[in-house]
Parts: sequence; C-alpha cells; structure tokens
Amino acid sequence: MSSVPMERNVVTTTAKRQRPRVSEKDLGQTGPGTLAGRYLRSFWQPIFHAAELGAGRTRLVRVMGEEFALYRGQDGVARLIQPRCPHRGMLLTAGTVEGEGIRCFYHGWKFGDDGQCVEQPAEPKPFCEKIALRTYPTRESLGLIFAYLGEGEPPAFPRVPSFEEEGVFTHTDSYVRPANFFNNLENLLDTSHLAYAHAHVTETWDNYADGPAISVDETSWGMRVTAVRPRSGKRLVAYFGMPNMALARGPRNDPEVDYREFRAWWVPIDDTRHTQFTVVAVRGKSREQFERYRARQMELRKRHDLDREALTWAVLSGERTLADLDPDRVHIIFLQDDIAQAGCGTIHERPPEHLGRSDIGVIAVRNVRPVVRAAR
Ligand code: FES
Ligand SMILES: [Fe+2]
Repeated sequence: MSSVPMERNVVTTTAKRQRPRVSEKDLGQTGPGTLAGRYLRSFWQPIFHAAELGAGRTRLVRVMGEEFALYRGQDGVARLIQPRCPHRGMLLTAGTVEGEGIRCFYHGWKFGDDGQCVEQPAEPKPFCEKIALRTYPTRESLGLIFAYLGEGEPPAFPRVPSFEEEGVFTHTDSYVRPANFFNNLENLLDTSHLAYAHAHVTETWDNYADGPAISVDETSWGMRVTAVRPRSGKRLVAYFGMPNMALARGPRNDPEVDYREFRAWWVPIDDTRHTQFTVVAVRGKSREQFERYRARQMELRKRHDLDREALTWAVLSGERTLADLDPDRVHIIFLQDDIAQAGCGTIHERPPEHLGRSDIGVIAVRNVRPVVRAAR
C-alpha cells in the first residue's frame, strides 16, 4: 500500500499532552451514553450485509448493545428503525413490509418509511398523528448496509474511492468474534503477534530470530504501523482509521490472486462481541480471474464446518488444543485471532499489563484522542 487512504469523514488527532485523560474503561465500553459509544455513533457504521436482506424482509440487529429493526422495502431501500412497536412493544421484525413501510404483527399498526404511524386498524378513532417510530439514516456501499446511529445530522457518507475504481472487484468477508471490538483494533497494530500466534501459517513471520522492527506514526486518518524484517528488509504496513477501521494487505491464499486489500470496520455487538465487517478488493485481474478466485474462496469456506466460537472457548479452557484440529475445517488465522482476542478479556477487566517495545502500536492507539471532526 503506497498511501494513506483519505476520506471526507476525517478525524484529526493531536499529541497526548493536549488531551483529557480517557480511562481504559472508556475505550472498551460502547453502550448508549458511554464515551466511546457516543463517539462511534457519530460515524456511519456498517451493520449488515446488503445481499442478506432481500426486498420485503426484516432482521433484528444488535449494535453497541442496542437492538434495531432492519427491513428492506419493496422499493429495494434498506431502512433502520427502533426495534419495538410503540403500541405494546412488539418486535417489529415479525411484522410485514408493505411498500416502503412496515406493519406490526400484533395489532396491525402501520408505519411509513419516515416512521410515521399511518394506520391503527383496531382504533375507532385512530391517533396515528401522535405516534412515530425513531428512524435512522442508512446507505449501501461496497456490499454493506451502513447506518448513522448518532444524534443530529449524519456526516457526509465516507466513500472508499480506491475500492470503487474501474477494474477493482470487491467482495465481503465478515465474521463475528467473541471479544471486545477494541481487542481487534489493537490486534491490527500488534504486529509482533504474527510471528507467534500465527506461526507456520502462510506468509506470516514465524521466525523470531528475524523479528521485525515495528514503528507507528499518526496519520490524518488514524495510524500507520510498519514492521520491517531486519534481514530481508520485507515490510508489512497496516493502517488504522479512527475510530474503528482498518486497511491492510491480506495474506496470499489463492494461486491466481496474490494481492488483496482488506478494508474493515470493527463494530461492537455489545462489549463482549463484535462483527468485523470486511470488504476485500482485488485489482489488476480480469472479471473471469476474479470469479474463479471467488469460487475457490467459497469452496474453502464450505470446508470450514467447525464452530470457531466453540473451539475458541474449548482451547481457552484447555479442553482442546490447536494441534488437535483439522486445519482444513476451520479458518485457522481467524481462529488464532479469536483465541488471542477472546483470551485477553475486555480491556478494563484485565489484570495490569506490562507493555514492552513491541507493543508500541497498542500504546500509541490508547493515546490517540480525537479532537476535530472535519467535513461535517
Ligand atoms: S404491538 Fe404493534 S400494533 Fe400492537
Ligand atoms: Fe492476527
């Protein structure tokens, strides 16, 4: 990767000495009203895969400890609303999508796409005009449905121009991890774990004698971490984007596609789980080559029939070891990261840590504080 990706929804950061103290608890807790939760909600966040929500269908989604009802109108537009009906609290996801609106399963109150109640079948004197759902702005991009869950007007929707160029093919590759989102965020900047937690996996650096020199710089987007192997000079560069994004090169896992870029968002489900929404970009290949690569990737995924979360807890409790597992039946890199990130617990509940020189990415990201929102 040659340059820092720039977007309109940019966060500028300043040196630690100019910022108020933020506790570790503040970094990991994202429920309504929390410091990190309010901050994350001030950005557009991906909440669901566009292809998994057909017209006329609904899904209950959980984001940062809150539930929401997501539905796609018959007009093809995805909409996000409060999860429960204002009448008796019924979950609206059991309702029926009608046109651009939704009708509650229980007594048939109907809500338009702006959330306004427009029908109350059992009421002799309907009082619809007094009733409205809370609605949230949504957008679709790169195969993901994004929502703005914050207060006030949303910022400009941040596009990823380098993923939308002619000749660039993208696909999604998301997962749920039973760990606090901040563990994954720090994991990106913790390049020293590649050589140990992912030892013997293709293209990772499994030789500590050639341990990389790690450096971290703040950028206008967030941070850049660079790891350079002393003997070969081979470099690994990954970008963290405030407040919960990443851009990195993916490991090679296909005979035809050797270079893939990953754009990821770590979106808390609650404070113990998160989804990594991932968009993978392949460039410099024909559509046919991309389709063949996709077919091979899908084939690989089909063979991954083991439950990673169950394995994670089994390894963490000592009931299983990685050596017991058939590595063809699980995404081994994801599982190694599941174990590492779930195994560390949530940041504010850990015993005191002892950070060293190789942890400079972790140290740096804990000290980055947002001070300016640009391009609002
Ligand atoms: S609970 Fe929704 S219409 Fe009664
Ligand atoms: Fe990892």
